[in-house]
Amino acid sequence: MNRRKFLEKGLVLGGAVTLGTAARAETQTINKIRIVGISCSPRKGKTTATSVKIALEAAQKVNPKIETELIDLGGMDISGWAGGATPGTSQEIMDDFPIEVEPSLMAPDLGGLIIGSPSYFRSMSSLCKAFLERLASLRKPKLLLADKPVGVVAVGAYRNGGQELVIEQIQTAMLCHEVMVVGGKPRAHQGATLWNAYNDDITKDEFGMDTARKLGIRVAEAALELFVNKKGTSQST
Ligand SMILES: Cc1cc2nc3c(=O)[nH]c(=O)nc-3n(C[C@H](O)[C@H](O)[C@H](O)COP(=O)(O)O)c2cc1C
Repeated sequence: MNRRKFLEKGLVLGGAVTLGTAARAETQTINKIRIVGISCSPRKGKTTATSVKIALEAAQKVNPKIETELIDLGGMDISGWAGGATPGTSQEIMDDFPIEVEPSLMAPDLGGLIIGSPSYFRSMSSLCKAFLERLASLRKPKLLLADKPVGVVAVGAYRNGGQELVIEQIQTAMLCHEVMVVGGKPRAHQGATLWNAYNDDITKDEFGMDTARKLGIRVAEAALELFVNKKGTSQST
């Protein structure tokens, strides 16, 4: 039985996973592992949100213990970091982040993140940058996102519109949280790259859809591995 099958079996059958080595000789009962997708386009429910949703759906199918949540920042008021505020006190900025976004990312059942951004002039959107800056509140006093798998989705109107650059920018920012950056399965090794060539119907980009699914699967698999292996960050009962 390979490790993946072992994990699936342990998680599905009663949810109890007994780890073999002395160092991990313990039984953890895992209730759920939540993968959160963040869509960082100001256009709510459009191509970036759809692409992240497709990745989440694929993640959910990996194991019944995986739950998913999509947070669409479109239409929300998310400011970048405000000068003078102290990292760790994001509540000082009165926008939608502390209520609509932060609690989901601070919850102990968070298993991983999928962050999506449109390509704007070969860069992430300003909304995405603002979101990433606000994650500073999750770094102190403790690195709450440390060791969580993070995958990135990028959408552009052009086939080579900067999607891989956007992915790299977001991955680089997330490394400041000591996350585990993951790509997708073959043909999506860097992450999900989508081409909005069909008048906002991103589901017609078959190649891009495939990359989104493969990213979702990889994030879910990594979350399962890390949840079981890392004592102290898993939700045990
Ligand atoms: C200001 C701006 C700049 C853009 N720059 C690029 C670009 O450099 N490369 C690209 O492929 N698409 C570019 N686009 C197109 C968007 O990335 C594309 O329409 C994407 O699907 C939008 O995501 P959404 O549907 O989630 O809003 C740009 C769009 C805007 C509004």
